[in-house]
Amino acid sequence: MQDKIKQLLDEIEALAAESLEQVEELRIKYISKKGLVSQLFEDFRSVPNEEKRLVGQLLNQLKETAQNRINSLRDALQNKGAEAKEIDWSRTAYPTPLGTRHPLTLVQEEICSIFARLGFSIAEGPEIEDDWHVFSSLNFADDHPARDMQDTFFVQNVPGSLLRTHTSSVQSRVMSTQQPPLRIICPGRVYRNEAISYRAHCFFHQMEALYIDQDVSFADLKQVLLYFAQEMFGPETKIRLRPSYFPFTEPSAEMDISCNICGGEGCAFCKHTGWVEILGCGMVDPNVLESCGIDSKRYSGYALGMGIERITNLKYRVKDLRLFSENDQRFLDQFKGAH
Ligand code: DAH
Repeated sequence: MQDKIKQLLDEIEALAAESLEQVEELRIKYISKKGLVSQLFEDFRSVPNEEKRLVGQLLNQLKETAQNRINSLRDALQNKGAEAKEIDWSRTAYPTPLGTRHPLTLVQEEICSIFARLGFSIAEGPEIEDDWHVFSSLNFADDHPARDMQDTFFVQNVPGSLLRTHTSSVQSRVMSTQQPPLRIICPGRVYRNEAISYRAHCFFHQMEALYIDQDVSFADLKQVLLYFAQEMFGPETKIRLRPSYFPFTEPSAEMDISCNICGGEGCAFCKHTGWVEILGCGMVDPNVLESCGIDSKRYSGYALGMGIERITNLKYRVKDLRLFSENDQRFLDQFKGAH
C-alpha cells in the first residue's frame, strides 16, 4: 500500500497539461469520486490496524498534493489565456504623463524674468548660514528679537550656524565679495520657527532684489516697484508705499498694490481696504554697506524683499499654504499648461 502511494505521488508531481480539457481529464483520473486517489481510500479499509496511522497520513498528503497540482495546472493555463488576450501588440503606447511645474516655480520664474528685463542677474546663497550674513552684517542689534530661538532654527552643536530666516543674507554674501555696480535678485527658501497652519509654515520662499551704484535714489526704487507690480499683476495696478522699519534699510517702506481681486473696490481678501501688502523695501543702510566693505560715501542703493507664496496666493488664490509642500497630485495638476 505504501509503495502504491509513493508511486502515485511521483506520478502526480510530474503531471503536465497543455489545455484546460486535459486538466479536467487528469482531475477525473485522479481525484474524482472514482479516481485513483479515491480508490486508495477504499483500499485503506483493509490496511492492518497498526499501519493505519502512518498510511492514513500518507494518503491525506497524497490527496492534498493531487488537488494542489491540478489547481495549479489549471491556474497557469487560465492566466496564460488572460494575458494573451490582454496584449494587443499593434496598439499605440500608453502616453507618458507630463509633469507640471510647481506654482511657486512658475511665480518665481515670472518674477525673475521681470527683473531680468531690468538688467538684474540671479545670485544664490546657502540655506545653512551663519549669524554674520543673516543678522550682524545687516545691522541687526545683538538683542534683536529675530535672533531669538523662537524665530530662528539653529544648527545643533555648531555655534553661530543657523537656517537663514530671509534671503537678505544673499545681499551680504554678494556685497562682501563684489564691488558695485551690483544688480541682483536672489530667489530661495527660508526657514522660521513657526507653528504650521493654513497661513504660516516653518519654511517658505522669498525673492530679494538689490541694486547698488553711484547716485541711486528712492525715486529709482519707486519706479522699479511700479514696473514690477504692473508687469506682474496687470497695467491697471496701482502701488502705495507706507513708511516702515527694517534694520538694514533707511528709510524703509512696505508696498501695497491695489487689490487685484476686487480691483480696489474692497473685498474680504483685502479686508475691505482695496489694498494688499506684498513686499518690504528701502534704501540700503550705510552701516550695511560699510560692514560689507562698500564705501557708503561713494555708493548708495536700494533693496526689496517679497514672499513668493504671497504673490502666488494673489495670482492663483491658494487658500492654504500647506498645499504648496504636500505634493498632492490633485493640487499640482491644476497648474498644467500654466506659464
Ligand atoms: N528680509 C525681510 C523679511 O524677511 C524682507 C525685506 C524687507 C527685504 C525690506 C528687503 C528690504 O530687502 O529692503 O521680512
